[in-house]
Amino acid sequence: MSGDLQSSGPDVVDEVQPPREDEYHWHTGLNRPTGVPDAVEFLGVHKAFGSNQILRGLNMGLPEGKISMILGPSGTGKSVCIKHMVGLLYPDDGDVLVHGQSVPSMRDHELFEMRKKFGVLFQDGALFGSMNLYDNVAFPLRQHTDKGEDEIRDIVSGRLREVGLGDSGEKMPNELSGGMRKRAGFARALVLDPDIVLFDEPDSGLDPVRTALLCELIQEIHAENGGAYTVITHDIMSARRVAEYIAVLWRGRIVEAGPAEELFNSENAFVRQFLSGAAQGPLGME
Ligand SMILES: Nc1ncnc2c1ncn2[C@@H]1O[C@H](COP(=O)(O)OP(=O)(O)OP(=O)(O)O)[C@@H](O)[C@H]1O
Ligand SMILES: [Mg+2]
Repeated sequence: MSGDLQSSGPDVVDEVQPPREDEYHWHTGLNRPTGVPDAVEFLGVHKAFGSNQILRGLNMGLPEGKISMILGPSGTGKSVCIKHMVGLLYPDDGDVLVHGQSVPSMRDHELFEMRKKFGVLFQDGALFGSMNLYDNVAFPLRQHTDKGEDEIRDIVSGRLREVGLGDSGEKMPNELSGGMRKRAGFARALVLDPDIVLFDEPDSGLDPVRTALLCELIQEIHAENGGAYTVITHDIMSARRVAEYIAVLWRGRIVEAGPAEELFNSENAFVRQFLSGAAQGPLGME
């Protein structure tokens, strides 16, 4: 794997020099013992859109039973990673495993079954604008299960209460604040009791107090339900609060991944810069 960045030769897509190999000192950290198996694994994943190389042989494992965070600059491919996990995008090369099963080689019905393991809060537009909150949260149950409306009502009311929206089921998304919409998206992501939960920037656009409350909610719900949670965020405070495991993504690969406390004490120049939000360091306004 090493050397493939240098050998990319004539197609000079990325005008900025890629970081030196040793910037990626835990890139092969897939085999680093986290003490638990990985719920999701990326194995040498390459993904390009046209000439725009996004993932460049990504190796990343997201441990079972923990709250993981994927951190990295805007446009590095964090959301693209999430789409690979649920089979909305396919790698050009390499593999993505969910509980050991290869997502790109799944047939349609296997993919449909596999997606039931996931609760996803996508970065853009979490809710259907034409449905009230109740119907939004009920939607995955109606789509993916044979449950009757009575049972659905119990589950949906419970989930809405859990996120503090017990009285808002009749409201339409556009009647809610950003924070309420995030919480409703949260309720919907959890409604199928997923084994793996993906939150793409659940805290974007929230004030610091709402962000702190959302972090608490993520921890509480994780403590109650378990499972592998993956949170993508730009908010380092959120990462400090909730992350148990952190993977730092840059230019299509993992710079460093490991237990949160190790990452916050990293020696790596990029990781240090990114986790402290410093202007000085390898990352510029590229
Ligand atoms: N379907 C697509 N077609 C073409 N290009 C895409 C597509 N999806 C993503 N990209 C490109 O891939 C790159 C990575 O996008 P992605 O949304 O994963 O970034 P990100 O790390 O989530 O950034 P942010 O922190 O701003 O959300 C971007 O350059 C984006 O334009
Ligand atoms: Mg994104």
